[in-house]
Amino acid sequence: MQKKILVTGASGFVGSRFVERWRYDFSLLMPSHAELDITDEASVDSYLLHNTPDVVLHLAALSNTWYCEQHPEESYKVNVEGTCNLARAAMLHGAKFVFFSSDQIYNGNLECGPLSEDVPVMPENVYGKHKLEAERRAMELNPATVALRATWMYDKPREGMPLHNNFVQLIAASVNERRPIMFPVREYRGITWVKEAVEFLPAAFGLPGGVYNYGAGNSMNTYETACCYCEMLAGLQSGALLQPDYERYPGHERNLSMSTDKIFRASGGTVFFSTTMDGLRLFHSML
Ligand SMILES: NC(=O)c1ccc[n+]([C@@H]2O[C@H](COP(=O)([O-])OP(=O)(O)OC[C@H]3O[C@@H](n4cnc5c(N)ncnc54)[C@H](OP(=O)(O)O)[C@@H]3O)[C@@H](O)[C@H]2O)c1
Repeated sequence: MQKKILVTGASGFVGSRFVERWRYDFSLLMPSHAELDITDEASVDSYLLHNTPDVVLHLAALSNTWYCEQHPEESYKVNVEGTCNLARAAMLHGAKFVFFSSDQIYNGNLECGPLSEDVPVMPENVYGKHKLEAERRAMELNPATVALRATWMYDKPREGMPLHNNFVQLIAASVNERRPIMFPVREYRGITWVKEAVEFLPAAFGLPGGVYNYGAGNSMNTYETACCYCEMLAGLQSGALLQPDYERYPGHERNLSMSTDKIFRASGGTVFFSTTMDGLRLFHSML
């Protein structure tokens, strides 16, 4: 019999791609936000009681960091309390709980990467703080929780599929419009094709409870990464369009670059992310 997966946030950027990729392999429950508001504890409990999923894949969130900064109470309600409601109900009704945390948890770290899950963290923005609190509280409520610290993700625009401002879109728009764009020099972060993140999710359902870094590594800074991608995209010398931003992150370098050794080992080698540049090359070869 097919596993029954409750997907929260199924209409979102990651959720819609998970559904598209895995809809024939699992029996998917995909309540809309209106059908299941994750901030309503009683509704969450009742939904799990009546629908008995084997896995709760929790992708619903307020995912815009800027919006969370402006609306911290709303962010807390959705990103912390909503996650706790699902973790608690999953524990009560015997479902595995897997949710997306974020590499923004590392945004206050001073050391260079790649960072592992056990380094002490002190996120500086509301979104990162709330994701960290969600991890800790979900783990207390339900020790079998799998929290996946995802990187910034990208995809190409497609009919009917939601898309956020993402790395490849920003560069493609700049190239098409011949409009200069700046990328930070003092930032190191992995950037992942969402297709890879979605591909590995079923493997994550079988992981022991814990926090796992989840996405591409990257040893280049964001400006260097953008230059390489721009040259790949249009055979362009990037200098005219891409400009180094030396001002951003003046306090300390922003290093979100993660090691994924833990998930590689725990999944028996199944979850193996491309580097950021290899992922971009693969993505580009399929355009
Ligand atoms: N996208 C990235 O690059 C990225 C990077 C790192 C981590 N993440 C994390 O990955 C997960 C998925 O992100 P995403 O980019 O797919 O997010 P998204 O596109 O913003 O989608 C969020 C989803 O959550 C739903 N939602 C919001 N509030 C809800 C509530 N109270 N009850 C029920 N549903 C609610 C939204 O439905 P409505 O639109 O109908 O409100 C939407 O389907 C999130 O946890 C995010 O923080 C994303």
